[in-house]
Amino acid sequence: MAAALTLVASAGLTAPSALAVDKATSRTVITPSSRVAALIARMTLDEKLSFVSGSVDPRPTGAAGFVPGVPRLGIPPLRLTDGPNGIRLNTEATAFPAPVALASSFDDGLARAYGRELGREGRALGQDVLLSPMTNIIRVPQAGRNFETFSEDPLLSSRMVSEEVKGIQGQGLIATVKHYALNNQETDRTTVDVRADEQTMREVELPAYQAAVDAGAGAVMCAHNKVNGAHSCGSDELLNTILKEQWGFQGWVMSDWGAAHSAHDIEAGLDQSMFAAGLQESPYFSRDLKAAIQAGTIPESALTDAVARILGQMERFGLLDGAAATRPPRDRKGAAEVAIRVAESGAVLLKNDDGALPLGTEDDSLALIGTPAKTPKVTGGGSANVVPESAASPIETITRRAGKRTTVRYEAGTAPGTAIPAASLSPAPPFDRDGTVKVTTDSTFTYTASLSVPAEGDYTFRLDAANGYGSLGVDGKNATVSVLGSTTATVHLTAGTHTLSLFGLAANGAEFPLSLTWVTPAAAAEARDRAVALARKVRTPVVFVQDEGTEDKDRAGLGLAGGQDELISAVADANPHTVVVLNTGSSITMPWLPKVDAVLDMYYPGQEGAAATARLLYGDVNPSGKLTQTFPTSERATPVAGDPQAFPGTGGTETYSEGIHVGYKWYDKQRVKPLFDFGHGLSYTSFSYRDIAVKQRQGGLSVSFTLTNTGRRAGQEVAQVYAGPSRNIDAPQAVRKLVGYEKVRLAPGQSRRVTVTVDARTLSSWDTDRGRWVLGTGPRDIRVGGSSDALPLRARTVVTR
Ligand code: BGC
Repeated sequence: MAAALTLVASAGLTAPSALAVDKATSRTVITPSSRVAALIARMTLDEKLSFVSGSVDPRPTGAAGFVPGVPRLGIPPLRLTDGPNGIRLNTEATAFPAPVALASSFDDGLARAYGRELGREGRALGQDVLLSPMTNIIRVPQAGRNFETFSEDPLLSSRMVSEEVKGIQGQGLIATVKHYALNNQETDRTTVDVRADEQTMREVELPAYQAAVDAGAGAVMCAHNKVNGAHSCGSDELLNTILKEQWGFQGWVMSDWGAAHSAHDIEAGLDQSMFAAGLQESPYFSRDLKAAIQAGTIPESALTDAVARILGQMERFGLLDGAAATRPPRDRKGAAEVAIRVAESGAVLLKNDDGALPLGTEDDSLALIGTPAKTPKVTGGGSANVVPESAASPIETITRRAGKRTTVRYEAGTAPGTAIPAASLSPAPPFDRDGTVKVTTDSTFTYTASLSVPAEGDYTFRLDAANGYGSLGVDGKNATVSVLGSTTATVHLTAGTHTLSLFGLAANGAEFPLSLTWVTPAAAAEARDRAVALARKVRTPVVFVQDEGTEDKDRAGLGLAGGQDELISAVADANPHTVVVLNTGSSITMPWLPKVDAVLDMYYPGQEGAAATARLLYGDVNPSGKLTQTFPTSERATPVAGDPQAFPGTGGTETYSEGIHVGYKWYDKQRVKPLFDFGHGLSYTSFSYRDIAVKQRQGGLSVSFTLTNTGRRAGQEVAQVYAGPSRNIDAPQAVRKLVGYEKVRLAPGQSRRVTVTVDARTLSSWDTDRGRWVLGTGPRDIRVGGSSDALPLRARTVVTR
């Protein structure tokens, strides 16, 4: 191979190998260590192929993927598991808060700790590779997986992913940064062609991936979607050129499950092909690749490099030296401690009128309303769904914290789902009395019926498909849902006959129950009325609401499903002291906002969420999280509203029509006032900023200011630094962009001089013609404050090279 190689880089990031381009295939290849080269030299073609085609773990662990290794050469198997907020296996594990909550903490040290606990627990539970972190930029408010990722801002996402990768890998677990690239919506995720111009790609989506590579991530997962016409997993530009050649990535690229499309993807830089749901293996890198190598249409050197990349990481992580045999025990206590710290630090106090929070002795009677007050919302759905050993309910934790002098009562406020009566369905349903049917492994399940509805109104259907896939259609496609986990869909139906269809498919080779229930409008009204009656009797109603973020499905809208918006509104009409706790994964609209006193966003707070919620509500912990995404006033006022090409796409393509102005940059440019701005988050204390000073620092800046806690409680503030555009750049620039931040803890009355370092890259724009970053020199506006819409300090500085 050596003669055909052109040396392109000596990356020196993670292993002592150099990178080169193999002229026979155009792949950017690594120079393996002598140990890896010697092992590969002894392998048969089939043994080599066994590394590049993932399969199902023969042990029923629930791991997402498996590579058998080569026992005769002493190479152990590799087990790969999800995912972003905990180790998702058939066994119980610590359920951490959703990554969006972690990012809302703006706390780099916490991101490292979060990674460390995931890394330790993954290794303890027998895994070698973690399919996490996800670092796609939040672009589409409706996107089902926003909870699994960090932010709409590339700097924040980059810092989070970098720290988390270091934390995970510091424990010996290989991190997989996903889903490369532009996997920012779930609608048509396996087919949609996402179009973004080069500047937008480089400035918005790619920085966090590069940060993960710089942090030493061992693996990258390419996405299901296409990027500018090419499948992500078959994109020579994304994989060979950008990732491997330009960034010097020495690890391996695996496909998302079912995201490879051809044996030729290996030439584009894909190293490992994972099977689609319901299958045991993908044919492309097994059968097809073998045939192509034997026929001479794909050189074996491509396969050899892919194996070298995987083995190189196995060597780096000690897996060739028996690391799999020396696993640490689980540290449940340590993991739970980090889980509660993240839930507390990431919670965002969105509104707090008249000091409604924290709750105090005057709140001597509480009504906890909403099912997540009783059944805690721990985590989102899909491959991020982690089942914890235990998770307390907010009723327990709040009642305990409230003490004997406070009465705490509960009302669901929404009705439980019940099985649709058999008499309403024709032909008779195959369900048992709970509305459940067993979907077996050897077939798919389908059921189509006519549904007769007694009265007009909103019907909420709920589909639970714990370990498989299901979809529901009512009257064709208008209420179709597709799940891996559970989901709800509210449909307005007239009295009379409708069509209902149901589909189920077992995943991971295990039989699973699929259950369908509904809530009729009459049942919903009755439950709401009971909650309203209770709200009238108490000093303070606290309404818990939730949504069901999940992979494979975007939210149908930004409102709360299942009558929860109406519930909050009705409760607040009955009692103006209403406090709302959000267990939601991303931005939502809040038609009821002016009527309520306070809103606390806990996201999906993990297994310790209830304890964190009680401590935040009572002020034992002072909220310090800030929004990592803008919350719009309405569905019609978002960067993708009113433009089907922007979302969900037309004719199979979706376009970043806002260009680099993703998230808050669009609101600033269009002068659209959001409901809550990027970076917003209140505290039970207050902060003031003064005396800004900006100094040049190696192409970058150092921005200093004095921050004071002007209130009576200790608290933490996320001080944010934004930069305005440079006149010396022709390409589009943001009105302001986040260029630095620091989370600062201050005692009451305490002041601190804070210095935030701003690096040259953050002040640069991507020059598409020249194919490189260009520093935005000349005068620039620097602003500092506690939210993108509240930046009291301002300085003009001149950026020089
Ligand atoms: C998801 C990935 C996940 C994989 C394995 C895919 O459907 O998109 O995020 O890691 O499944 O479970």
